[in-house]
Amino acid sequence: MIKKHKYDLLEKVRQPSKVDIHYIRQKEPKGLGHAIWCARKFIGEEPFAVLLGDDIIQADTPCLKQMIDVFNDVQSSVIAVMEVPENETNRYGIIDPLAQKGRIYDVKGFVEKPNVEDAPSNVAIIGRYILTPEIFRFLDLQQVGSGGEIQLTDAIAKLNEIQKVYAYEFEGKRYDVGEKFGFIKSTIEMALSRDDLRDTMVHYLQNLQEELRKHLV
Ligand code: G1P
Repeated sequence: MIKKHKYDLLEKVRQPSKVDIHYIRQKEPKGLGHAIWCARKFIGEEPFAVLLGDDIIQADTPCLKQMIDVFNDVQSSVIAVMEVPENETNRYGIIDPLAQKGRIYDVKGFVEKPNVEDAPSNVAIIGRYILTPEIFRFLDLQQVGSGGEIQLTDAIAKLNEIQKVYAYEFEGKRYDVGEKFGFIKSTIEMALSRDDLRDTMVHYLQNLQEELRKHLV
């Protein structure tokens, strides 16, 4: 990097790390609930955050920061949610809302990937959670749910019976990069939102539009 005069990049990698990274491997694909359960000893007795890597959220205030603020207020678990089209409710964990105050829902129940006709609402769980360690009481049971997997949503539904779990409608735009077209869309839109990439992307898309016109004739 010195040879190539890439001093700004060098500066970034030389910065003392602000975080410690620990890895725990889920040895068998038994579901999200099982994956979280694998980290139980590391987590211990503290509230903790779960971020699913295939959900990307772009927001002025990071989604997790918004949720930490809510957690500090309510002192109970908080799950990120957003409205989805009714015919897509079978792709998500869905909440059965009891009452809504601003962006926060009191929740009656949580159900993982219900059939579209059985979904209690169109308010879906998105991959950001702040959970209290009591969740492990239910994950410890290792009960198998939707898709033959140990579901985090099922443990959350049980936790909600002994301790409130709030749903929070976050501010921001969510991209599903676990889906092929979602990945492409997020790459384009993220580039358009960045000062260092916007012009190149606009130029690229303009050229592409001309190419497309040729194909459409
Ligand atoms: C997981 C959760 C689901 C949630 C979704 C959000 O499902 O189990 O409750 O709605 O993430 O992306 P997955 O997408 O891993 O099937």
